Amino acid sequence: MEETTQSASPRGLGGGKGKKLEVVGLAGSSAPLQRRITGISELDRVCGGGLVPGSALLVGGDPGIGKSTLLLQAMAALAAPRNGRSTATCLYISGEESLDQIRLRALRLDVAQRPVQLAAATSVRDIAASLDQRGGPDVVVVDSIQTLYLDSLDSAPGTVSQVRASAHELIRLAKERGFSLLLVGHVTKEGTIAGPRVLEHMVDTVLYFEGERGHQFRILRAVKNRFGPTDEIGVFEMTDRGLAEVPNPSALFLADRRGEVSGSAVFAGMEGTRPVLMEIQALVAPSPLGTPRRAVIGWDGNRLAMVLAVLDARCGLSIGANDIYLNVAGGLRIAEPAADLAVAAALVSGATQQPVPADTVVFGEIGLSGEVRPVAQAEARLKEAGKLGFTAAWMPRRSSQARTRAPEGAPASIREIAHLGDLLARFDMAPAGASSRRAAPR
Ligand code: TYD
Ligand code: MG
Repeated sequence: MEETTQSASPRGLGGGKGKKLEVVGLAGSSAPLQRRITGISELDRVCGGGLVPGSALLVGGDPGIGKSTLLLQAMAALAAPRNGRSTATCLYISGEESLDQIRLRALRLDVAQRPVQLAAATSVRDIAASLDQRGGPDVVVVDSIQTLYLDSLDSAPGTVSQVRASAHELIRLAKERGFSLLLVGHVTKEGTIAGPRVLEHMVDTVLYFEGERGHQFRILRAVKNRFGPTDEIGVFEMTDRGLAEVPNPSALFLADRRGEVSGSAVFAGMEGTRPVLMEIQALVAPSPLGTPRRAVIGWDGNRLAMVLAVLDARCGLSIGANDIYLNVAGGLRIAEPAADLAVAAALVSGATQQPVPADTVVFGEIGLSGEVRPVAQAEARLKEAGKLGFTAAWMPRRSSQARTRAPEGAPASIREIAHLGDLLARFDMAPAGASSRRAAPR
């Protein structure tokens, strides 16, 4: 797409003379940035420990997922007086909703009495004029960037040039005045045009707020963070009185699990610094089609193809001609290779119609020769499993050292799986699609 750039001139520097740069050393005298803790710990953790002054954060997500709710709650929490003193001045600028609508929401969230400043505006010129002064707010929410416009541009609000120019202006001000800027961006249906994507490189932090329709829980995920890790997630539940934090997501993600059914395995995963258990489901069914169907939700389709190929080539278990559906229950997305073994267990269980014992968690990475490789943070995974009442684990081989100091509260029965063949030995191998259901393997 053709983009007109106003700042860079394609005709070289012309005649004007530039100013010489002032260079400084790496070790400056500036004190480390004092972050602003919102008090919503799921949000603070995903940000890397609170909001950074002078930084810009983008919260992207589908319309209706709860972005405005999250940010209003965050502002209310930040503005709440602590020890009798207000900690931060918070300004919430809405270009989408009327002041009355926001007040109604505040009532519903039970934060109407908090000293949050509210404004309805869409003109960047007006917003900038109110922010560009001494004693301005400490934290500013702009909901949403797609409603803003600069009157110096001809295009309509929501177009790429307006979104970019508006964000640029606000981000510049945030750096200059030292307030934390939180921008809301809707992900547009057609994908990314004029959506948050065009802003990702301009802001310091990009968070996506996601959730499945029909599910109550929401996941806040950092995809870019100049001030913290990008593998953290925050988990919330949308209630009739706003978003509630979910400090123990494993329990939530496993809540709908039905005991011993075939084609299901519980994966002990890590999301950032936190262990999270999730259920992986596989359905293996004879395919009526020449090219069998593959549907993968929450995992990488290539990785599934690899696991299937290794099962076939190294263990002689050929299920690739079946339709295969793989689903990570609860709408989570797994990026870790550590899920390989759990996926394999779900697949084998689905193909043989024998359940993985319900009290068992599974984790481990699979290599191309069928070997199962150790994964990071095994202790944290085991501990989480123990905490949720799991009494057995199928995991990669451990060092003798790790064997002797199993973490306190870990599942009592640990079965080390060195090769995929050891996993298959856990099942009574019958031809795929066998209809009789046998007892769970032990
Ligand atoms: P909203 O924050 O307006 O979404 P976004 O800003 O991302 O477009 O959230 C809208 C949805 O959340 C709406 O469908 C109603 C629901 N909701 C609740 O279930 N409970 C609540 O307390 C609130 C405020 C909203
Ligand atoms: Mg909104």
